[in-house]
Amino acid sequence: MALSRRKLKVVVTVVMVNLFIFILSRSNSQDKNGQHKLRTPSEPFWAIPTPSPAYWNRQQQILDTQNNHILLTNYSSTDLPDWLNDTSLPSDLCQPNFRVTTQVKDYNSLPDRFKDFLLYMRCRSYPIMMDQPKICKEPPFLLLAIKSLVPHFDRRQAIRDSWGRAGVVANKTVVTIFLLGNATAVDYHPDLSEMLHYESDRHKDIVQWDFRDSFFNLTVKEVLFLEWIQARCASARFIFKGDDDVFVNTYRILDFLKSISGSKARDLFVGDVIMNAGPHRDKKVKYFIPESMYVGAYPPYAGGGGYLYSGEVAAHLHNMSQHVALYPIDDVYTGMCLRKLGLAPDKHKGFKTFNIEEKYRSNPCAYKTLMLVHPRTPQQMIQIWAWLSKPDLSCP
Ligand SMILES: *[C@@H]1O[C@H](CO)[C@@H](O)[C@H](O)[C@H]1NC(C)=O
Ligand SMILES: *[C@@H]1O[C@H](CO)[C@@H](O)[C@H](O)[C@H]1NC(C)=O
Ligand SMILES: *[C@@H]1O[C@H](CO)[C@@H](O)[C@H](O)[C@H]1NC(C)=O
Ligand SMILES: *[C@@H]1O[C@H](CO)[C@@H](O)[C@H](O)[C@H]1NC(C)=O
Ligand SMILES: *[C@@H]1O[C@H](CO)[C@@H](O)[C@H](O)[C@H]1NC(C)=O
Ligand SMILES: *[C@@H]1O[C@H](CO)[C@@H](O)[C@H](O)[C@H]1NC(C)=O
Repeated sequence: MALSRRKLKVVVTVVMVNLFIFILSRSNSQDKNGQHKLRTPSEPFWAIPTPSPAYWNRQQQILDTQNNHILLTNYSSTDLPDWLNDTSLPSDLCQPNFRVTTQVKDYNSLPDRFKDFLLYMRCRSYPIMMDQPKICKEPPFLLLAIKSLVPHFDRRQAIRDSWGRAGVVANKTVVTIFLLGNATAVDYHPDLSEMLHYESDRHKDIVQWDFRDSFFNLTVKEVLFLEWIQARCASARFIFKGDDDVFVNTYRILDFLKSISGSKARDLFVGDVIMNAGPHRDKKVKYFIPESMYVGAYPPYAGGGGYLYSGEVAAHLHNMSQHVALYPIDDVYTGMCLRKLGLAPDKHKGFKTFNIEEKYRSNPCAYKTLMLVHPRTPQQMIQIWAWLSKPDLSCP
C-alpha cells in the first residue's frame, strides 16, 4: 500500500512537472517584439470554472471544486456561485432530484432510461439483500465477480460447472460471486425471489442489492461492488469482473497472474482496452449519450465484458469513485476513475470481447491461449471447459 501511494505520488509529480513545463513554455513564447520573456501568471492558479453546458461535466466540476482545498481556502464558501453550491437540492441523496427536469435542457424529450438515471444519479447506497460475509475468510488469490441478472439461473450454473468453479484451481484459491440487483415489477419481471433464495442457500455465492437491475444502473452495481470488496474481500490478490455471457479461460488467467510480480502485479488493470472513443450521438445505439449529458472524449477503458485488476487497484478505485459523478455506462465510468488515479488500463490481446473468427470457434486449441471470449452460451461454456480440462489436449 505504501508502495502504491509512492507510485501515485510519482504520477502526480510527473503531471505537475509537465504542467509547469507547459506553463513555462507557454509564457516563455515570443512576444510581439520577437523577444523572449519569462512571464509569471498574473491570475491565481486555480479559478472558478465556467459551467459546462453538459450535465455530467457540470456535476463533475462541482465534485472537483468540493475536493479542491486550495480553491476553497481562497474563496469563502458564500463566494461560490450558486451552480457550484446548490443548497436547494434534496439533502437525502437517494430522493429523486427533480431539479434535473429543468437543469438538463432536453430532459422531457430524452428516453425514459435517461430520466431514471438523472433523477437518481446522486444515490450510491442501496440496501444489501443477500450477502456472503464470510466468503473470503480465506483470502483468495483470484476473486471472480460476475454481473448477472436474477432470471439467468442457467448462465450462473454453467459458470459454476465450468470456468467459475470455486475452490483450488491450479494450486490457487478461487472465490466466485454473482452480483445482482433486483428484477423489479416496474420492468414486468415475474417474482423469482423464492427460487433465488433457494439458489443462494444452495451455492452461497449470490450478492444482491435492492436496486432496479437495468443497463444504466450497472454503474451503481460497480460502486456497490467496490465498496463490498473493501468490506468483505479486501485481501483478494486479484479480481476479475465480467459478464455472465463470456467464457473465461481461468487456467490461462491464473498462469498469467502467477507470472507477474512487483509493480506490474500491484498496478494491474488489463482487458480489451478501447482508446480514443467518445459518446455515441446516434439515438438508435444502445450506448447513445446526448450532448446535454456529456461532452468530451472518453478516457481509455476496458470493455465491460471482463477485465482483471489487483486488490490494490480495487482499493484505489473505491476511494476515487467517490469523487467521480456516476456515468450511465459502467465500463466508461471505471475508465474515468482510473484516469483520475493516473493509471492507464493495459490492453491484452487475450481478451476477445468482440469474439474470434468464426472458423476457429469450434477448435479447442483456439481457446488455449486466450483469456476471455464474448459471447458464449451456457452450453458452449461447458463444452469449451471440457476441452480445456482434458489432460491430453495437445495443441501446436
Ligand atoms: C489566494 O489568494 C491570495 C490573496 O488574494 C493570493 O495571493 C494567492 O495567489 C491565491 N492563491 C491561489 C492558489 O489562488
Ligand atoms: C455552500 O453554501 C452554504 C450556505 O451558504 C455554506 O454554509 C457552505 O459552506 C457552502 N459550501 C461550500 C462547499 O462552499
Ligand atoms: C502449491 O502452492 C504451495 C504454496 O503456495 C507451494 O508450496 C507448492 O509448491 C505449490 N504446488 C505446485 C504443484 O505448484
Ligand atoms: C424486488 O423485486 C421483487 C420482484 O418484483 C419485489 O417483490 C420486491 O418488492 C422488490 N424489492 C423492493 C424492495 O422493491
Ligand atoms: C436505478 O435503481 C433505482 C433504485 O431501484 C431506481 O429508482 C432507478 O430508476 C434506476 N435507474 C435506472 C436508470 O434504471
Ligand atoms: C481510502 O480511504 C480510506 C479512508 O480515507 C483510507 O484509510 C485508505 O488508506 C484509502 N485507500 C487507498 C488505497 O488510498
